Amino acid sequence: MMNQIALPIIPQVSDDLLEQYSLQMLKLGQSDTPLQRVLREMEEIAETESIPIVGALEGSILAGLIAMRHPPIRQVLDIGTAIGYSAIWMASVLGKDAHITSIELDQKRAARAQEFIRRAGVDHQVEVIVGDVFEILPRQNKNFDVIFQDCMKHVYFARDPQLAIELLDLCVSHLALDGLLFTDNAFCQGRVLEPSEYNQVKGIQTYNQTIARHTQLESLLLPFRDGLWFSRRLI
Ligand SMILES: C[S@@+](CC[C@H](N)C(=O)[O-])C[C@H]1O[C@@H](n2cnc3c(N)ncnc32)[C@H](O)[C@@H]1O
Repeated sequence: MMNQIALPIIPQVSDDLLEQYSLQMLKLGQSDTPLQRVLREMEEIAETESIPIVGALEGSILAGLIAMRHPPIRQVLDIGTAIGYSAIWMASVLGKDAHITSIELDQKRAARAQEFIRRAGVDHQVEVIVGDVFEILPRQNKNFDVIFQDCMKHVYFARDPQLAIELLDLCVSHLALDGLLFTDNAFCQGRVLEPSEYNQVKGIQTYNQTIARHTQLESLLLPFRDGLWFSRRLI
């Protein structure tokens, strides 16, 4: 691939002591449910196999922000299932009628996700679709109240930084009015600070500039882990 820089996996727990303290407090408050046990098992697997998952702190923040919405969230889209970790966190706070559509390119990861989702007891709510978001999402004839966009942008933006805009447009066109769009990896591991010769960094920079000025969204960039955009559809 042209113009690609190798980026290490973001660690689930950073060496920031206050982040570690927040995580300890979170774990003190967690009950020992089968769902939490499955999440902890997944964290260990992700660590051992270098699978890029959001980790407990970001997972709980996503879940917390979703749980606070009124009326309750009905339709969620999870872009980049990996082994199902973020989908399970989000499912943990949804009501019985809510549904998560989760899209994953890698068939083996999707199969593992389905197994973890079953073991976490949320398989009645989470549907994993194997395929490319650029092909699958245009075929979804519904809008989503929440979209979590976490599909390794820095890998395929190396092909063409303009894909960043295409992906954002695709998400906004499937986001319900007043719906929330979360986008992970806004900082591209700090590389967004400087002009870059690499397409994948340019892609993230383009995505950031476009989301910040987007007329249909109001957005906050949370300077947390690798940078998390928190956007709401206005019009
Ligand atoms: C960072 S991981 C997702 C982690 C997940 N959100 C979590 O925290 O549990 C990104 C995933 O997106 C998938 N992916 C990459 N490009 C994709 C695409 N075009 N369509 C669907 N999935 C894609 C990758 O195979 C990878 O498993």
